[in-house]
This record gives sequence, C-alpha cells and structure tokens, in this order.
Amino acid sequence: MKSVLDVRSVRKSFGADVVLQDINLEVKEHSVTVLIGASGSGKSTLLRCINLLETIDDGEIWLSESEITAINFDQDSARKRMGIVFQNFNLFPHLSVLDNITLAPKIVHHNSAETSKQQALQLLSRFGLEVKAHEYPDRLSGGQQQRVAILRAIATSPEVLLLDEVTSALDPVLVAEVLQLVAELRGEGMTMVVATHEMGFARRVADQVGFLHQGRLLELGKAEQILDDPQTPELKSFLQAVREAGRL
Ligand SMILES: Nc1ncnc2c1ncn2[C@@H]1O[C@H](COP(=O)(O)OP(=O)(O)OP(=O)(O)O)[C@@H](O)[C@H]1O
Ligand SMILES: [Mg+2]
Repeated sequence: MKSVLDVRSVRKSFGADVVLQDINLEVKEHSVTVLIGASGSGKSTLLRCINLLETIDDGEIWLSESEITAINFDQDSARKRMGIVFQNFNLFPHLSVLDNITLAPKIVHHNSAETSKQQALQLLSRFGLEVKAHEYPDRLSGGQQQRVAILRAIATSPEVLLLDEVTSALDPVLVAEVLQLVAELRGEGMTMVVATHEMGFARRVADQVGFLHQGRLLELGKAEQILDDPQTPELKSFLQAVREAGRL
C-alpha cells in the first residue's frame, strides 16, 4: 500500500521547550492512525505540523510524493490536499450548512457553484444531514455541527483527513454519532490521522495506534498491541490512568 504521509525524524520546539522529538510515522493509504497520549504530550502539535500550521525545526514531512516541508514547497498547495478538523466546531456562523461546505470547493479549488452544491448535497444526504442543508450552525446540535465540520473538510477530497479531538467538547451521546461518521469514512477508504481520548474508538477503527509521551512517539503498533500489551512503563501508567477514568 502506498504511503500517504511520512513523518521523518521531526523535531519541534517552542522557544526552549522541545515538544516533538524524533517523530517517525508512516501513514498508508486508506488506513487510520490514532494518536493517544496525556494532555500536553504533543498530539495537536504533531497534527498542526503535518498541516503546516507550525513549522518544524528538523526532519521532513512527505505527503505522497511531495516533501511538503521542503524550503521552496508551496504550503498552500500542500494544505489544499489535506483536511483538518479541531475540537471546537469551526463552522462559519453566518453561513448555512450548505454554504459552509461549498466554500472551499468554490473559493480554494475553483469548482463551479453548481457542482459544489450538488456534491455538498450528496455528502449531506449520504450522512443523513440533508434536512439541515439550509440551517445555520447555531440551529444544530454539537454533534451535528461537528459532523458538518468533518463533511466540510472532506468536500475537497483531501488525501488525508486530520482530526484533533473532534469529540472532546461533546456529550457522550453526541460523541457516538461523530465517531460513527468517522467509522463510516474509514469504510469508504479515507486515510485519517486522529488524536483522541476515546480508547474504545481507537480499538474499533485504528489500523495503528501511536502513543506520544512528552513529545516522543514511544510506542507504535496495532491497537491490540498498544492497548493490551504495552511495553513501556509510560504507556502502562497512561493506560492505568485512562482505565481509572473509565475510558478504556
Ligand atoms: N503555540 C505554542 N507555544 C508554546 N507552547 C506550545 C504551543 N502549542 C503547544 N505548546 C506546548 O506544546 C506541548 C504539546 O502541546 P499539544 O497541544 O500538542 O498537546 P496535546 O497532546 O494535544 O494535549 P491535549 O490532549 O491537552 O490536547 C505542551 O507542553 C504545550 O504547552
Ligand atoms: Mg491537543
């Protein structure tokens, strides 16, 4: 299987704080990589580096055949090939659901208004949200808003979708519907990198799970291996803490 993302020996610091160190991570096409780790371990920073929202200090990031961190690489063109969704819904409040979804296809990818609209409506109906097409975000539940945010991110057919704690601002019932959408996207072959605190979800959808600890990718492997047979004391104690919080 072709590699869609390849993070090679990446280091990132903020001032004197090294927050990512020697990160190596390969993401194959149609696979789901789940990043776990305590608060502050570097999950968001890694996703932001991949999306070029942060500049790395050392190493390389490849998106398919392009080294997107190369000095002269056109960053906008790289970002256009990725989708990213954050924890807090970032829909435009003054635009309807439909206009939120068609904005990037029209403005960034120069698709026609009609094509963009048809594709957006198709996406919405595929995921049971077509009745919301003309609503404004504040009329949607948190779970619906987050699902629309994800659909908006895939409306441009990204090579990889990056999801950063997309469920952590939601009530448990709403979490399930958002995770269901992610599972369906996986079924359709979307390549994803997902930072989450939902271990059950990691077990259900991850092709590989990476454990970050203080900016290092301490363990990387299949979900069962990482969640059931941790090797490092750091992962063992992380899982213990998760278990005590009732999230495993
Ligand atoms: N813009 C910034 N400036 C300085 N330090 C930052 C910045 N962004 C993140 N950090 C630091 O980098 C480290 C990693 O943060 P990051 O947000 O990546 O962690 P995380 O694993 O996503 O945590 P959480 O689970 O709470 O979301 C933290 O120590 C954080 O304080
Ligand atoms: Mg984070």
